Amino acid sequence: MHIHQYEKLWLGMSLLLIVGFIATITYGAVGVGVTMVDDSGGNVNPNALDEHPEFSDPGVEQVGENEYEAHVVARQFIFQPDPIVVPANSTVTFYVTSADVIHGFSVVGTNANTMVIPGEVSEVTVEVNEAGEYGLICHEYCGSGHHTMEGILRVVPEGEYNSSDGGEQ
Ligand code: CUA
Repeated sequence: MHIHQYEKLWLGMSLLLIVGFIATITYGAVGVGVTMVDDSGGNVNPNALDEHPEFSDPGVEQVGENEYEAHVVARQFIFQPDPIVVPANSTVTFYVTSADVIHGFSVVGTNANTMVIPGEVSEVTVEVNEAGEYGLICHEYCGSGHHTMEGILRVVPEGEYNSSDGGEQ
């Protein structure tokens, strides 16, 4: 059977494209750890966050020498607490849930980026080294105020961090 050489060329290119798609997905999953939101962070009742031991009073807690946990509630159209305050040179794991609809949680300038789904707790970890401020943005359309939904992650010099205030300053 004779196959025209252009046909061969296109066949080859479409095969390459398929291999390329598989490679990028594999790289995303294995190389940079992109995953779907799962329930590894646990489940919560979005209607009873007020009674939840952590989410009723969201904030930052020290859990290791340079390790912190931040419980964050996303709701139309704010993040609580705001700002979220942590010391420099620390590893911060965020546990984020929603009180109402699906939101996004992205720490601008880092690779922390997750969907926030009512009933589920999204977990993302960020290392912060230098003092400064990072913007937090909601990147899932969540209603009329979506474009205004933002917050601040404030990284303060280690000596200035006061853990007793639960990260609210
Ligand atoms: Cu919350 Cu968009």
